[in-house]
This record gives sequence, C-alpha cells and structure tokens, in this order.
Amino acid sequence: MIDELRAIEADAVAQIAGTETLEALGELQRDLLGKTSALGGLKKTLGSLEPDARREAGLVMNEVSEALRGAFETKKNELEALERLARAEAERLDLTEVRTSLDGGHLHLVTQTIEELEDVFVGLGFSVAEGPEVEDDWHNFTALNFGQYHPARDMQDTFFVGLGGPKEVVMRTHTSPVQIRVMEGQEPPIYSIMPGRVYRNEATDSTHLAVFHQLECLVIDRGITFAHLAGTIDRFTKAYFGAGWTSRLRPSYFPFTEPSAEFDIQRPDGTWLELGGCGMVHPNVLSNCGIDPEEFSGFAFGFGLDRLAATRHGVSDLRELASTDIRFLEQF
Ligand code: PHE
Repeated sequence: MIDELRAIEADAVAQIAGTETLEALGELQRDLLGKTSALGGLKKTLGSLEPDARREAGLVMNEVSEALRGAFETKKNELEALERLARAEAERLDLTEVRTSLDGGHLHLVTQTIEELEDVFVGLGFSVAEGPEVEDDWHNFTALNFGQYHPARDMQDTFFVGLGGPKEVVMRTHTSPVQIRVMEGQEPPIYSIMPGRVYRNEATDSTHLAVFHQLECLVIDRGITFAHLAGTIDRFTKAYFGAGWTSRLRPSYFPFTEPSAEFDIQRPDGTWLELGGCGMVHPNVLSNCGIDPEEFSGFAFGFGLDRLAATRHGVSDLRELASTDIRFLEQF
C-alpha cells in the first residue's frame, strides 16, 4: 500500500504542476482528494490492515495528503498571482498616446498654415504685424468707420469684456483692428499682413467656430487700385493652393472699405469656398489714422485661416481643428 500511496503522490504532484487554470485546479482537487479518489479508496481499505501495517500506512497516507494539500495551495497561489497580473494587464491604461520621448509633437495645423502664408506674403514683400486679442472699441469698431449706432456692428456678434465703460472693451471680432494699429504706428507705404485669433459670439457648427483665426492684409501706398487687390488675392490663392485654383470677388459691404467685396476661391473641382472680405480702405479710416486720403489709397482683405487650412487638407468639420485628439492632430 505504501508503494501505491507514493505512486499516487508522484502522479498527483505532476498533475498539479501541469495545471494551468484555477478552474482546472479545483477539479483536480476534487478528483485527487475526494471520497471517490484513489487516495479516498485506499483510506477505506486502511481498516482491513494489520495494526502495525495500518499505523505505518496511516502515517504515509497523512504525509501524502499533507503533501498534496501543500502542492494544491502553492499552485493556487501561483495561478491567482498570474490571474491578477493578467487582469492588471488587461485593465492597463494605454498611455502610449502621451509621448514621453522627444520625437513627439509638432506645430498645430493652423499654426503651420499661418507660417506658410507668412512665407508666401513675405516673399511678396510684406511684413508681419500683430495686435492684442482684447481690443478697445476704437480699434475694433470706431476707427474702422463703424459709427456708434452703426447697424454693421451687429454683423459681428461680439463678446464684451467687463472692463472700462459699457461695451468699451471687446474680444476682437476680426483682425481689422490691427490695420488701425499699423496705420497709427507707421507712415505709408505699408505692406503688412496680420494673422491672429478672433472671437465671435455665435454657435459653433461644422463651418463656424466661435474662436477662429483670420489673416488680414493691408496695403497703403500711392496709386493703389482695386486691380492690385484682386491681383494680390489671386496670387496668394495660387501660391497656397496651387495653379489650378482661382478667386472671384462679389460686391459686398463693410464700413471700413469702399468699394467692398467678398472673395471666394474656386477648388479645381469647380466648387467655391467663401473665404473673406476685402475692399479699398475707406477714406474715413485713413483720416482716422492720420493718413491723407488725397495722397494715399490702399486695399485690405481678411479671411478665415481655419477654413483655408481645412479646405486644403480635406477636413470636413472645423471643430476638429479645436480638438485635442492626438489621432486627428497627428495627421498634419
Ligand atoms: N474684417 C472683415 C470680417 O471679419 C473682413 C474684411 C477685412 C473686410 C478687410 C474688408 C477688408 O468680416
């Protein structure tokens, strides 16, 4: 019987060692230690042995039972630890999107667009100017020939800032106030572009953002005509998009330009994209900035950079440009 017990032990230990799941281990435990197991069977025959042999076999039987229980316990701990690891692995947060190495990160598509357009315009002889995003009424409206009660103020849904008198300080609604700052600060000739962020108090959708970007272009010199304006717009359209793109002007109204137009650009597939406004700088605006409208004339245009970038890169929803989803941003 002792040989039999040792054989059972050796076999059981091997089976326990080979078990791979807690479930299988539980089953094995029932098979090897239960009443119907080989060990259980031997236990029942113990009583029929001679007293000495019974004592000896009983000792070995206890040893074997202990050894198996120990082996089960050890294996159970081992499998439980593995299961915990597996669960932790499965629940692990994938933080690999957050780049920890130095290769990660690049300029945002809109910033890239601004830099590219700056290159185009600097190549045409323009300088780059900037102005504040929080503006006073004078620069955002009044100097641009919006009278105090001018209805055109409503064309631009304005965020007002709680500073100064009522409606005196605004988040700039366009980049045109930078025109005023440039004209106040330097004598003509002026050939400047002014990219920047602007704010409109309106609902966002796939083609409108409440916070977006414009690029303003201002030329003041002697003998500047509408033809210079149309030519400059067409030139930059082709420089940024390619030779297959064209532009058109449609009559429009802005208080600070006369005549005024809206301009669209045409995609190679023939469809048009409304991009911005333009016109000859209004004489009142020149006078407001201390420039003699008898001596100088000029043109200005301004357009949405986000739309421009979205069109060139096939982004169908402008809101994506404001998202922080690295999978979107990474593509550009
Ligand atoms: N500032 C105008 C707008 O945001 C666009 C514009 C710029 C129009 C320059 C004329 C000249 O709607």
